[in-house]
Amino acid sequence: MTESTAKLEFGGKTHELKVRSGSVGPDVIDIASLYKDTGAFTYDPGFTSTASCESGITFIDGDQGILLHRGYPIDQLAEHGDFLEVCYLLLYGELPTKAQKDDFDLRVTRHTMVHEQMTKFFSGFRRDAHPMAVMCGVVGALSAFYHDSTDISDPHQRMVASIRLIAKMPTIAAMAYKYYIGQPFVYPKNELNFAANFLHMCFAVPCEDYKVNPVLARAMERIFILHADHEQNASTSTVRLAGSSGANPFACIAAGIACLWGPAHGGANEAALTMLSEIGHVDRIPEFIARAKDKNDPFRLMGFGHRVYKNYDPRAKIMQKTTHEVLGELGIKDDPMLDVAIELERIALTDEYFIEKKLYPNIDFYSGITLKALGFPTAMFTVLFAVARTVGWISQWKEMIEDPHQRIGRPRQLYTGATERDYVPIAKR
Ligand code: SDX
Repeated sequence: MTESTAKLEFGGKTHELKVRSGSVGPDVIDIASLYKDTGAFTYDPGFTSTASCESGITFIDGDQGILLHRGYPIDQLAEHGDFLEVCYLLLYGELPTKAQKDDFDLRVTRHTMVHEQMTKFFSGFRRDAHPMAVMCGVVGALSAFYHDSTDISDPHQRMVASIRLIAKMPTIAAMAYKYYIGQPFVYPKNELNFAANFLHMCFAVPCEDYKVNPVLARAMERIFILHADHEQNASTSTVRLAGSSGANPFACIAAGIACLWGPAHGGANEAALTMLSEIGHVDRIPEFIARAKDKNDPFRLMGFGHRVYKNYDPRAKIMQKTTHEVLGELGIKDDPMLDVAIELERIALTDEYFIEKKLYPNIDFYSGITLKALGFPTAMFTVLFAVARTVGWISQWKEMIEDPHQRIGRPRQLYTGATERDYVPIAKR
């Protein structure tokens, strides 16, 4: 990597700061010694201009709408790859050979069951508990069951924990769904691939055979691929920060799930579908566009805008194509919510406000329509996001743990509270 310097005039002195270039993307100004040299902190709430780490996993160019995983464009991976192949790529850094892929698939498949005792966890929840609340609880509890893969200093245990999490998330997610709808749990079937197995665990019932529709299974694989990783987003940063203290990987992933649940992040797919059904008909779109533009109205167009993409989210384009494939396969001709979504997108993309603020549909805008067509209730949408994102979280966690310069994350602050003052007895207040 090339290096140059930047000069900072501060406190009557000129400070030289190292500038580092990556393989692609913006340079970084290394401020690690700034406080020591100047006595001042930088200030960047929301981290709009801050690189928290060095990573080689995912690259996003928000202006060009580019997303690469280990250098491979997302559209090529979504078109040609399967989800476990992308998992291997994210974890190991290279596409697997046939032998490596077969071995990896077998290792994951052999970890898809959860400890039978874990089924007892679900009965502690109300049936109408939000599935994301169940996921936070049950995934966090994995560390109570798999003590033999919580020693993060052991590379073998790190890989076993990674495989266990990738393998068990679909099983736990399907159990959360079955519990939510009052149906019995369905065990994984090793002869099915990742997405087909997930659909089977969600939609099979003991009283009849369930045949997985290969077109829907392929669409599910593609949806998982699109959600696998996305650089240093809020939930990934949560996993990295939790992991920086040495917490075990199961607890770190549970922290990531909790963060993903927020409607500004992974919860947007559920919120976007709720918004589309609230709009209900294309005639009501102008009213909602006006609300989205009204500074005094907290309403936002869910599924629109992105911290990094100031162009079309490349995943949204592939998602839109998948939506049409799934609706076509299911013979759903006129989905009113799809009509609203297409018209809402058309209007928003020609509206001055959205153009000026560079607000485009993101991955969450179309995913909800597809997931609803596949048969999932809106409460399950962010759970599916978490199933896919687990490989991204665990790959980023592994990269951080293996970084020899890694240390605990501990940001500072700009303090604007009360300065020192003496205690006043209550009788004198
Ligand atoms: C995901 O980080 C990732 O990579 C996330 C993700 C991943 O894969 O991990 O891509 C997944 O979380 C996608 C984003 C899903 N969230 C939503 O769809 C929720 C709706 N979008 C917004 O809440 C918002 O766009 C964010 C949270 C996504 C981004 O917020 P920023 O970067 O902090 O931008 P901002 O809130 O400062 O908005 C900039 C301006 C503001 O107007 P001004 O104050 O400058 O006048 O744009 C406006 C905002 O009011 N704006 C919107 C809007 N999003 C931003 N106005 C209306 N509708 C919107 N959706």
